[in-house]
Amino acid sequence: EKAGYEHFMLKEIHEQPTSIQDTYAGKIFELEGKVILDELKMDEDQLRSLQRVTIIACGTSWNAGCVGKYLFERLAGIHTDIETASEFRYGEPVLCGQVFTLAITQSGETADTLAAIRSSRSYGCKAAAITNVVGSTITRETDSVLFTRAGPEIGVAATKTFTAQLIVLYLMAIHMGTVRGRLSPETAREILVGIKQLPGQVQKILNNKDAIKACAEHYANVQDYFFIGRHLNYPVSLEGALKLKEISYIHAEGYAAGELKHGPLALLSSETPVVAIATKGHTYDKVLSNIKEVKARSAEVIAVANQSDTEIDKYVDTVLRIPDCHELLAPVLSSVVLQLLAYYTAYARGCSIDKPRNLAKSVTVE
Ligand code: F6R
Repeated sequence: EKAGYEHFMLKEIHEQPTSIQDTYAGKIFELEGKVILDELKMDEDQLRSLQRVTIIACGTSWNAGCVGKYLFERLAGIHTDIETASEFRYGEPVLCGQVFTLAITQSGETADTLAAIRSSRSYGCKAAAITNVVGSTITRETDSVLFTRAGPEIGVAATKTFTAQLIVLYLMAIHMGTVRGRLSPETAREILVGIKQLPGQVQKILNNKDAIKACAEHYANVQDYFFIGRHLNYPVSLEGALKLKEISYIHAEGYAAGELKHGPLALLSSETPVVAIATKGHTYDKVLSNIKEVKARSAEVIAVANQSDTEIDKYVDTVLRIPDCHELLAPVLSSVVLQLLAYYTAYARGCSIDKPRNLAKSVTVE
């Protein structure tokens, strides 16, 4: 049932060209620059008058939600908050009927996410869910359900469900942005064409995974890892760190690159590799400066960078490549690289990859 792979996690990483495609299938009409999202039960007037979105999730799904926040703000011009479900449910949220809440939960069973959504609905908020499991509890607790079509995920570490969540968030952001007149059909088309290239681009990364494996093995015995990125690459760095600590048990921290000098720089040394997500985009130069700061503390830097970026080689120790793509879509590709980095690190350390210690696939208690 592992289809020849040694672990479910590796199999699921390799299924991503298909799971991504299955998730957008039938929804993208790139010639018209349009997305059809019938599952989102909000008409155009409701979408136009939307003032605020609150995304609620845990763990990896929270990291996807953080990408969603940036996408909703940039492409649809909607103020978006991202909330940790376990904090939100015991907080004192200021909500009203105009706020739209969006739960992201692969399993659809995470106790804190369910409780937070119930609480938001008691304020009269309309609620939607992104989930991978048909018939899960969250599907009965929300007005709209958007399914990721990733297929069953057995490995405890979420991989293909994460990238599928990102795809749904792109589709939602483009749909809302077009309806709200914020996004031109040309820009929408450009991103939609880019989404359709993702399966092939992910396949390219999978075909060239040896460089990632070699890098993982080289650093497999360190005690600490840092991951840094800005804007959309900030949640990518959080996800890279989460994946690594979950399955390899190496301490890892994801940081907004601009925050380094506010504390964590004190921890850097030649013993702490730093993964810098440095894909092309409006924060690229800023991340390059952060890389120089890190190098000045003698930390070794592994950059995740675009194929055509030859400049980066001058500043870092290792470059892990992703194909050139639309700047907003890079998180999907970079995340696949970081999943493989975590996988091969855990493998080199002889860890129990599909069932890491102390963790459960679905957290149905708080
Ligand atoms: C990480 C991981 C967890 C889950 C979290 C939320 O690899 O799997 O962090 O993402 O427990 O689970 P769902 O998405 O089912 O609500």
